[in-house]
Amino acid sequence: MSNEKADQMIRSSSVEEMSSLDLDSAYGPSGFRGLVKSSNILFYALFASLGGFLFGYDQGVISGVLVMSDFETRFPRVGGNGDLQGWVVSIMQLGAFVGALINSPLADRLSRRYSIAVACVAFLIGSVLQAGAIDNSMLFIGRFIGGIGLGQISMGVPLWIGEIAPPNLRGSAVTMQQFAIASGIMISFWLDYGTQYIGGIGEGQSQLAWRLPFALRVIPAITLLVGCFFILPFSPRWLVKVRREHEALAVLSRLRKLPENHPIVQAEIMQIKAGARFDALTIKEKFPNAKTSAQIAYQQYKELFTQKHLAKRLFVACFLQFLQQFTGVNAIIYYAPKMFKSIGLSGNSVSLLATGVVGIINVIATVPAIGIVDNFGRRVVLMFGAIFMSLSHFIIATLYAIYEHSWAEHLSAGWAAAAFVWFFVFNFAYSVGCIAWIYPTEIFPLGVRAQAMGIAISVNWISNFVIGLITPIMLNYIKFGTFYFFFAFTMVLFCWVMFFLPETKGVPMEEMDKLWGGSEGKETADRMARIQNELKCESRNVPIYSKTSSYSDELDIEMQEQY
Ligand code: BGC
Repeated sequence: MSNEKADQMIRSSSVEEMSSLDLDSAYGPSGFRGLVKSSNILFYALFASLGGFLFGYDQGVISGVLVMSDFETRFPRVGGNGDLQGWVVSIMQLGAFVGALINSPLADRLSRRYSIAVACVAFLIGSVLQAGAIDNSMLFIGRFIGGIGLGQISMGVPLWIGEIAPPNLRGSAVTMQQFAIASGIMISFWLDYGTQYIGGIGEGQSQLAWRLPFALRVIPAITLLVGCFFILPFSPRWLVKVRREHEALAVLSRLRKLPENHPIVQAEIMQIKAGARFDALTIKEKFPNAKTSAQIAYQQYKELFTQKHLAKRLFVACFLQFLQQFTGVNAIIYYAPKMFKSIGLSGNSVSLLATGVVGIINVIATVPAIGIVDNFGRRVVLMFGAIFMSLSHFIIATLYAIYEHSWAEHLSAGWAAAAFVWFFVFNFAYSVGCIAWIYPTEIFPLGVRAQAMGIAISVNWISNFVIGLITPIMLNYIKFGTFYFFFAFTMVLFCWVMFFLPETKGVPMEEMDKLWGGSEGKETADRMARIQNELKCESRNVPIYSKTSSYSDELDIEMQEQY
């Protein structure tokens, strides 16, 4: 869209006219070209994705530590084959489940960026407790508190990135989070592999071998913490939500590298303001008795479940998180060495190497996603990923079923199964690996975005927890059936995306309502018309005709009281 078109948008006189003009083409190219052009967005997204790095690092580090001999000697019930092993791994996911939920009020009250700072503090406390652990309880408490921080980060970082990015780069920018998660997993794996040699692998192993990988993650965590105060700007959408509109305009103009009075910046801030005021006015008109922030938050949570179009979005966001985990990716991330051994790749180093390749492919395959999610759209990428993931599971399961008792005589079948594990990871990484993070950031209205994301991301963590728990049991009892089980879920993902999932590529966040039926109804249209009329008067400095005060004045006072 040209500048004139954006200009026309600001001056347009009807709701229809305003919403029919979209901003997306004004921002320029998507994908790599767009990110290079908007190098500041690339930088911010990469910096905030240090959070994703912490998340991946934490997921990856524990498996290597658990089998180190010094660790096993000090924590016999946790290391090796100890009876508490499963719990020390999963208590982190339970903490993260809680963290994702509690980050919603924090992200609304403190701001997106300071909620990430709080998360870093929790993560740091957890890391120090784990690195310095002298007994099981320190280890468990450390993993739980660290997990809370991770859950907060996994919700706060994509939320923040999604809100600062222009529509043409939103998918690519949020993809950085997945890139960082995959890098964290890979680096922690190889780091464990290296530090296990400190003092020797056997009895003489130094405690540094496992304390160091636990301790080193404080470096990215402190960097992110400091960055929350000095590098990351406030989300302009959050600023508008709390009625700091002048600051929002200044931040937006810096983010878009355009002057404040530029038509594109003006049109975007208008869209954001209209969306925020619409949400606030809806709550005010529907729930006149809700005055305190707690009452309003309660109504907003309730709306998420009772308003059809919001409940639909919530279901979609949660189901996508659930399916992401039930593709079986973490069955592979957590149990790859065991799996590779069971398909006949004998010898520790062979199966470790095969696992190392999983980590590398997971990182490399995320890169194309940066270029494709905003160009081809979420749906196509998800469908491609899902169909190839199901194909992989099907072939692995079938090979497993045929050669279950004769892998030793059929080495090439074992390698073929390994190749399909890698192919699976490749297809996960560019598709649902990334899109499960992008989708929930973009489909909700500002008023309930943080709450909804908290719920969706907590579903991711609880599903992750379940997978961690059931995979070893399935591998023991139903063996090749494990892969048919995941095959079924990847097929569900394919069909569900094909028949039900709306495309969100390039749709401005404030226009998502149209995809979900949220902008239907006369009452809604009237409310939007009043707000847009008021915004137009404001932008022309014309006093708003009203018998009493304007909606804006009333909302202003109320919204400021809430924050
Ligand atoms: C998932 C994690 C998974 C990782 C693998 C993420 O998107 O949420 O559970 O371990 O991808 O790269």
